[in-house]
Amino acid sequence: MSLDVEAIRKEFPILERRLPNGKLLVYFDNAATSQKPQCVIDAMSDYYSEYNSNAHRANHTLADEATSALEGARSSISSYFGTSPEQMIYTSGATEAINLVAYGWARENLGDNDVVVLTEMEHHADIVPWQQLSKDKGVEIRYVPIDTASFTLDMEAFEIASKGASLVCVVHTSNVLGIRNPIEEIVEISHSNGARVLLDCAQGAPHERIHFDKSRVDFVAVSAHKMGGPTGIGCLLVRKDAMEQMGPFMTGGSMIKTVSTDGSTFQEGHAMFETGTPRIAEAIGWGAAVEWLDQFDMSELHSHVNGIASWTADRISQIDGITVYGDPSRSDSSGAVSFLHDSIQSQDLALLLDEGGFAVRTGHHCAQPLMDALGVPSTNRASFWIYNTMEEAESFVKHLEYVVDRFSHNL
Ligand code: ALA
Repeated sequence: MSLDVEAIRKEFPILERRLPNGKLLVYFDNAATSQKPQCVIDAMSDYYSEYNSNAHRANHTLADEATSALEGARSSISSYFGTSPEQMIYTSGATEAINLVAYGWARENLGDNDVVVLTEMEHHADIVPWQQLSKDKGVEIRYVPIDTASFTLDMEAFEIASKGASLVCVVHTSNVLGIRNPIEEIVEISHSNGARVLLDCAQGAPHERIHFDKSRVDFVAVSAHKMGGPTGIGCLLVRKDAMEQMGPFMTGGSMIKTVSTDGSTFQEGHAMFETGTPRIAEAIGWGAAVEWLDQFDMSELHSHVNGIASWTADRISQIDGITVYGDPSRSDSSGAVSFLHDSIQSQDLALLLDEGGFAVRTGHHCAQPLMDALGVPSTNRASFWIYNTMEEAESFVKHLEYVVDRFSHNL
């Protein structure tokens, strides 16, 4: 059964938005952040209008309701990701989740004899924390290159780089290329070499159901806002034995057991890593988002998005001067089409697309090492999700053809 995209679109009020020039919004910037269904907006608004209060602190009705909603959302989210609430630490997003591994686990367990393996297609969030760790603790970083003909990871180089490594950090799905990495093979090779694996699922989770317990991955970083949830919330999923090796990262209220002028003792488990007032409204919104997403078959969502991306990439690669980076026709590619015109700067092209109502992203996509490997400073990127349609893609291609034609004739 295919997705009822027209019915789904009605749940997203923003999709009726007209831009100041009167054009109807066509939102193709989903890899940067997705739009939110009404149920997510309502869940957050209900919290603020009905039971706004701090959680885990007081014994009044509102505080109890806020605490139950926060913990209820943890149950829904962890269950959506195929694990238990004890394995889930709320963070501000995938970036903080990766930093939590770098500061809470790696600093406690790695030193100058250790190797961390990264790939050339990592987001900066999965590069910079490891560079900082390397400066402070002397850890060696090895980068696995991509094969620029197929836009995939060089797995032979991965096998070599992962020998003797303590940690392998890899993006599930590239935010630029849209290609999913061979996670199962990466986990197999890494574990056989004795390395733990950190998976950055910021871009993968909106397109594929992640089953943490089944995956055997040690750490999974997720952001809510690319999968229908609000900004400002995400989580780190951590295997029990790895969590036991972690020390505190952010310190302060909530994560302590006792504080005296002589020192402090800390909570155990996920509570040790959740400091200060929780992101209550955001957690509630994310809980509503995963419950909403749970009604869909993710493989149908993937085929829908992959079909639009693959068709779009094929059509725009036929436009004079346009090169597509990535291979959206692959079945493991999901919804991101990065492209560049050989003489229209990406920023200018984005503005010309915006004139037609089309929102795409421009820039290095927080992946400068990947841009270097591709030999480009930036790209334009159209990225699709559950509510996008082939009609939108067709009007996008037409507008791009018009823009390129207008540019070529200096009109
Ligand atoms: N990392 C996000 C993107 O790819 C923001 O656009």
